[in-house]
Amino acid sequence: MTAGIDDIAIYIPRLYIDAIDFAKARGLDPVKLQKGLGVSQMAIVDANQDPACLAANACLKIMQRNKLSPEDIGRLYVSTESAFDESKAMNSYVIGMLEQVYGQGAFEHCGGIETKFACVSGSYALYDNTNWIRAGEADDKAALVVVSDIAKYDMGSSGEMTQGAGAVVMLLNDKPRLLEFDPKVTATSIIDEYDFYRPFGKETPIVHGQYSNLLYLIQVRKALDAYKKKVVSTGLIKIEPGETILDHMDYINMHLPYSNMGKKALAYMVRHEWRQLPRWKRILQEIGMDEPVPKDPRGTIESVLGDAEFMAKDHEFTKLFSKTQEFQEVYESKLASSLIASTMIGNLYTASLYLGFRSSLEFEYQKGIDLEGKRVGFGSYGSGASAMVFSGVIQPEYKQVVKDMNLEVEIGERKRLTWDEYENLHENKLSIDESMVHTKKEFVLIDVKTETESRGERRYVFNE
Ligand code: HMG
Repeated sequence: MTAGIDDIAIYIPRLYIDAIDFAKARGLDPVKLQKGLGVSQMAIVDANQDPACLAANACLKIMQRNKLSPEDIGRLYVSTESAFDESKAMNSYVIGMLEQVYGQGAFEHCGGIETKFACVSGSYALYDNTNWIRAGEADDKAALVVVSDIAKYDMGSSGEMTQGAGAVVMLLNDKPRLLEFDPKVTATSIIDEYDFYRPFGKETPIVHGQYSNLLYLIQVRKALDAYKKKVVSTGLIKIEPGETILDHMDYINMHLPYSNMGKKALAYMVRHEWRQLPRWKRILQEIGMDEPVPKDPRGTIESVLGDAEFMAKDHEFTKLFSKTQEFQEVYESKLASSLIASTMIGNLYTASLYLGFRSSLEFEYQKGIDLEGKRVGFGSYGSGASAMVFSGVIQPEYKQVVKDMNLEVEIGERKRLTWDEYENLHENKLSIDESMVHTKKEFVLIDVKTETESRGERRYVFNE
């Protein structure tokens, strides 16, 4: 049985901090954010929003657009790393909100859990629900997988330049109009690491930024190697001499903690794959330098990062490699469109990869390219750390969905925050009833109880 993504919807909060205002306040060159990281605007949640209401707003949108009733949904999974309860799953809050619209008990038959593994958990949730459908357990029902997060870092930290917030929901079924997942090739890697983590009770993560960048690259490469073995052994793809697995992916979507990370990851993977090919000699000649090797090639991430001479040379090499015509062609045709939404919205943790997929569909379609039959490769990464590489094929009916995609319309009108407003929101100085925008037809948070007996209980309303 086949399974995949039938439709995809997003919900992005209406407030943002602009890279220019951010850089000015922090004494940075705005070009560092805009060009160095690929961050132009970062979405920020209002005082009456949390990741559960972002998720519920995305779910309502996809249900209304597809005229789905709760009976059509058999599973609702929520993936997040912004959970506010150690026990109660975010699903129940989302179901509670949806039932304000569809009626109490309307989702009673529906199953689902909250999944956690930093930014990669949404990919595990997609995989599990795809397999639920493939196994014939779905009983003609669809699954909703919603990925929702608030990427918030400490004030003044280097991570603060890479914030964002939002939710993406995917409708999965056995006759997907958008993308059918390739069976039996999903590959993973996993390791016990502390590149980025958020201990109990802490609102913001502890981050080792450059360490996390390198670990992301290494883990995704390991998952790609495992994926390659699977596609060859299952016979899904035949890699001819002189080719690499990346030649068989028409599009590549990467986890995007900031949009330039996608480009960095692509350059790293392409180098890894092309190194074995005859074309590599020609590229080295064009670059005019040999590929640098660390002093201790079998060393740890710390030893590589501590090898200043290697890091400087490798940086130079990557820059030159990224400018080669061969790489530029791969970048422009396979990745560039997926980065556009990220520059406007920022990091969405679990949702970043799927915002990128949504972005790629819209902007490739706008180029007039026929997407039917194109294979999309996904590189998912979650700190802590695990990576997942998988793929799918765009379906003949994709136009029914993609023709109406319009990122700016879907985000809606936004308010550019002043620095003071941003600081107040970041430091949680506003109470729930001091929200900055007053939205209609959306779920908002109205109360978080503080009394001993009911501490932490949350109440939401649907703003008519
Ligand atoms: P940093 O160390 O301050 O930045 O913070 P940098 O010095 O590396 O500069 C960034 C880029 O801007 C560089 O480009 C500079 O050259 C360039 P590159 O050389 O790498 O291509 N630059 C400039 N360009 C133009 N004009 C200028 C200028 N100055 C510098 N004037 C860092 C960057 C990402 C480390 C930081 O923001 C951070 O810690 N972010 C949070 C962690 C993160 O996003 N890590 C990414 C990988 S881990 C991951 O993806 C998982 C995650 O999503 C969490 C999860 O899984 O749950 C984070």
